Amino acid sequence: MSTHADEKPWTIPALAEAKRNGRKLTMLTVYDAGFARTLDQNGIDTVLIGDSLGMVVQGHDSTLPVTVDNMVYHTEIVARVLKRALLIADLPFQSDATPERALDAATRLLRAGARMVKLEGAGYKLDVIRYLTERDIPVCSHLGLTPQSVLTIGGFKIQGREEAAAAKLVADAQAAAEAGAAMIVLECMPSVLGKRITEAVSVPTIGIGAGPDCDGQVLVLHDFLGLDSGHRRPRFVKDFLAEGGSVAGAVRAYVEAVRNGSFPDAEHAYQ
Ligand code: KIV
Repeated sequence: MSTHADEKPWTIPALAEAKRNGRKLTMLTVYDAGFARTLDQNGIDTVLIGDSLGMVVQGHDSTLPVTVDNMVYHTEIVARVLKRALLIADLPFQSDATPERALDAATRLLRAGARMVKLEGAGYKLDVIRYLTERDIPVCSHLGLTPQSVLTIGGFKIQGREEAAAAKLVADAQAAAEAGAAMIVLECMPSVLGKRITEAVSVPTIGIGAGPDCDGQVLVLHDFLGLDSGHRRPRFVKDFLAEGGSVAGAVRAYVEAVRNGSFPDAEHAYQ
């Protein structure tokens, strides 16, 4: 099993290598320099400036109000302190509605220090993924529960329970990888589907409520610290601060639990 040297900065090819070697990847969201430094120094592989910042930092009830300017601001302050973790930034709502808009937004995020951008959904977004990756912008796809679709989905709900929906998600993941996505976040689906998608694609999958068989795991920082988000706490959330005793201890406990496969357990996954 590969042991990506602790001090070595992560690169996009190293993510694929980690999957090939069965080395689990760790990710947390982060929005500011202080937490970013702590995550970076305590073994987190990749950090995500999630548009969840609309909910956990700005206090909105969805991610829809987040702008590209907001994302650039948080990306700049996090990028300034990272030494090792790979920084991924979300393309916020409608900034990826056309390939050209996505290219403008993604270029701003990469100039601010991101090394990869994440975008939600398949369908016409596959053309956006292809357009960006052909122009040397690494892309992470986000499938399953896609929070930017909250109005059409009708809430934050588990996805892919029916076989037709599950098969579509497998096909979408394969198409996203085919279009050039270097990583895929899988949100809120039965563990068996997280496993099925992970086995169907050659790029790493990062689960959030998608079971233990994904190639890595991500949690929203505020959930991971047990903070009250003002929303119903999803089943997959675990308070690692209670276990770790300090923020640094919580990060180390999370890294160890993801790497040794003990998180997520059945209590924090959907059957
Ligand atoms: O915005 C975000 O924090 C995310 C994670 C939930 C993966 O997309």
